[in-house]
Amino acid sequence: MSEPQRVAVVTGGGSGIGAATCGRLAADGYTLAVLDLDLDAAKAAAGPEGIGLAADVADAESMREAINTVVRTIGRIDLLVNNAGITGSQAAGRCHETPIEEWDRVHAVNVRGLFLCSRVVLPVMLAQGSGHVITVASVAGQVAFPARCAYTASKGAALLFAKSLAVDYATDGIRSNAVCPGFVQTPMTQWRLDVPELRSRVEENIPMRRVAQPTEIADAIGLLADERLSYLTGHALTVDGGWTAL
Ligand code: NAI
Repeated sequence: MSEPQRVAVVTGGGSGIGAATCGRLAADGYTLAVLDLDLDAAKAAAGPEGIGLAADVADAESMREAINTVVRTIGRIDLLVNNAGITGSQAAGRCHETPIEEWDRVHAVNVRGLFLCSRVVLPVMLAQGSGHVITVASVAGQVAFPARCAYTASKGAALLFAKSLAVDYATDGIRSNAVCPGFVQTPMTQWRLDVPELRSRVEENIPMRRVAQPTEIADAIGLLADERLSYLTGHALTVDGGWTAL
């Protein structure tokens, strides 16, 4: 008998860690539903078997429509990867230097987005009696990053959001875990890595002396998603080349 089709929804799957995660999950046999602001990138990451949709995680109606489309088209959702996120402007600062609009935008995507997407996916998982939500937080949710108060606070919230889901849905067959990447080479960080002096400042703080490739985070997500880890929930898997071990 053939294995039942497993379906993964990946938010922000059009680029960086999200796109690499789509690659890993497709290789693991998942059918993909990719939600991104960028429709073409979402379609490319979803591949010929999946669906790519333009959607804004910070917008309740957009999320409801996108998840309805996924359920109507593919029928179920086994895994939600809450990955879409932004850092805010490169010039972000300490608390008193952070524009209010910047704080609001970062929290709208990085925190409200997790909530809006999860709250429309969880009823689908509850009806199935199974599911898994993996949230891409950050080491910036475990330790503070200098002059990044909006991003750091949002990732701290993301981490506890993942734990909160783990506690609330533990008896419903739904797991919730988080991944906390360190510094990863993606379009989000490329501006800094392109400046040799900034790149070496980043790398000298990492015990492995290099930043991660997106596939290294995708592999951690693939590992967490493995159904043999059936008792693992509420866990934060740090993938940072030893950065926070210092
Ligand atoms: P990226 O900028 O390469 O990709 C982010 C994707 O999310 C893009 O395709 C973008 O269109 C999409 N997106 C942004 N806002 C959206 C919205 N409102 N609705 C739907 N899609 C939206 O970023 P990267 O580096 O791949 O980051 C992915 C996640 O990993 C983020 O949550 C980020 O905070 C987190 N992270 C990244 C690290 C890094 O060093 N790159 C380190 C730790 C965490």
